[in-house]
Amino acid sequence: MKLPLPITASVEEMKIDVGEIEGLLQGYPMDMPQWPESSVVLRDGRTLYLRAMRDDDIDVLLPFMEKVMKIDKDFYDIVGVRVYGEILAVRRKRLKDPFTILGLIDGEFVGFANGRAWSQDLAISLHTMAFSRRGRVGWAMYYAKTYYAMELLKAKEWWSTFESYNGWRMAGLAMAQPTKMWPEYQHELGGAKVYVVTQESWQRQIKNHLVSMMSTDLNFEVTDEVRKANEVMRVQETPEI
Ligand SMILES: CC(C)(COP(=O)(O)OP(=O)(O)OC[C@H]1O[C@@H](n2cnc3c(N)ncnc32)[C@H](O)[C@@H]1OP(=O)(O)O)[C@@H](O)C(=O)NCCC(=O)NCCS
Repeated sequence: MKLPLPITASVEEMKIDVGEIEGLLQGYPMDMPQWPESSVVLRDGRTLYLRAMRDDDIDVLLPFMEKVMKIDKDFYDIVGVRVYGEILAVRRKRLKDPFTILGLIDGEFVGFANGRAWSQDLAISLHTMAFSRRGRVGWAMYYAKTYYAMELLKAKEWWSTFESYNGWRMAGLAMAQPTKMWPEYQHELGGAKVYVVTQESWQRQIKNHLVSMMSTDLNFEVTDEVRKANEVMRVQETPEI
């Protein structure tokens, strides 16, 4: 917008450092704890290693997600394209206070889970994906990020939504999550219903979810053997969906 000046200005054109624009666009970050490396034994006996996404993972993950977003089965396409955007948004700093957890089995990338902090009190679940099926990789990944939101961030509420039948069953149904009123409350992923975990429901019931549903728990004492097996991450040439 350009309007006539209501006063004489000594300088009629100003040069702007785009770094200053960046400061306005990004806002300021919260103090985000790092997801600690951990592992979980899946129901088929395989050990899933969980660690925080690093900057150097992004160049590996983006081309893989490009393939995933073309799979028009079980909603891998819509979730894949959104996850591609979220991974890129971490690099481009266009996601407020994100947290991203990767799941590896013997070095192979098989699980993804991310979310972000809306505020000190509210954390938003974004996406969960499994690239090795029938092992309940997705359940462990979703549980891990919920654990992060409730135990490490200590959010009062954790808002999820579900874009697929398997996603809803994995966390909406299996964690017995109630919904907020809709359309009054809408999740940022497409305006769908908000499913909610509160500190109370987490502490009283859901915290033991993995143990009760999968007879397993997160192990934060990762063995050297598991760490070594997952030192170098690789992705499948063709996603096994
Ligand atoms: C949602 C998701 C993370 C769930 O994780 P998961 O339970 O580890 O994933 P799977 O897809 O392997 O298994 C889910 C169910 O699909 C079915 N299934 C999967 N592969 C199958 C196959 N080859 N044949 C028959 N059934 C199959 C099973 O019923 C399985 O349930 P079970 O665990 O009781 O056997 C995963 O399905 C996924 O990544 N989906 C695409 C992305 C998505 O929808 N994300 C969630 C957004 S809300």
